[in-house]
Amino acid sequence: MRKLLLCPPDYYGIEYEINPWMSRARGADTPLVQAQWRGLHEKLLSLGCDVHLVPPKPKLPDMVFTANAGLTVGKKFIPSNFRHKERAAEAPLFADWMEKDGYEIVWLPEDQFFEGEGDALFVGDTLFCGYKFRTDVSAHRAVADILQCLVISVELVDPRFYHIDTCFCPLTDGGAVWFPAAFDEYGQRTIRDHVPNLIDVVEEEAAHFSCNAVVLDQEIVLPEGAPILMKSLGERGYRCHPLPMSEFLKAGGACKCLTMFLPQRESASSF
Ligand code: ARG
Repeated sequence: MRKLLLCPPDYYGIEYEINPWMSRARGADTPLVQAQWRGLHEKLLSLGCDVHLVPPKPKLPDMVFTANAGLTVGKKFIPSNFRHKERAAEAPLFADWMEKDGYEIVWLPEDQFFEGEGDALFVGDTLFCGYKFRTDVSAHRAVADILQCLVISVELVDPRFYHIDTCFCPLTDGGAVWFPAAFDEYGQRTIRDHVPNLIDVVEEEAAHFSCNAVVLDQEIVLPEGAPILMKSLGERGYRCHPLPMSEFLKAGGACKCLTMFLPQRESASSF
């Protein structure tokens, strides 16, 4: 049973603009927000997940995106150092919750920006980390030292895909779903060299955050609007569960951003 962390959207809204999707002029529709988040919560429960909830806090509208809380491996939790001051106050709240839940908290140096699982996803024993818009490449080295695992750093080049989880989604069979144009040439080559059986997502579907999916063995919970991707995943034996996510797309997030794995991986293997 996968243990997951979610945060109810009681204080969610578009109150500032820190990525190209956010516009204060295009606010979120509160009843729809509640319905869409409940839809995700219920879907994850129905798939047998052990879902835990961190209490939301006023004035932290993006706290709902728990993937950015940090990165959990085994019993270690590395909290995020958010790049934008608007989100910085989330970090100690998540760290407190994790500590109370029994995790060992390992902080990164304050001057290294890191946005957690949003920018750090395992493919097998290798941790793929994105950098530039949010996470610093120097934080990747620090994470590798803490976890004693191989980290592959890839640069993100399209501001719409500012976290790696917006354009790259590891699958259970060791492959991944990705939007290649979100990476520079070196990153594209590196991913092609290390990850077999890649599924490319077309731009129109990537723009619906189709890569932002929660993978639970053969079940994949993803935002609706990706018929081509769902067909490819179906042919590989995955069952897709598309959900409406319009209100979270307005903040530049969807299913995966709203979910953090506890832990993402049981252990990081040594070099
Ligand atoms: N508005 C939030 C931000 O810009 C969205 C975060 C989405 N999270 C993610 N893991 N991609 O920080």
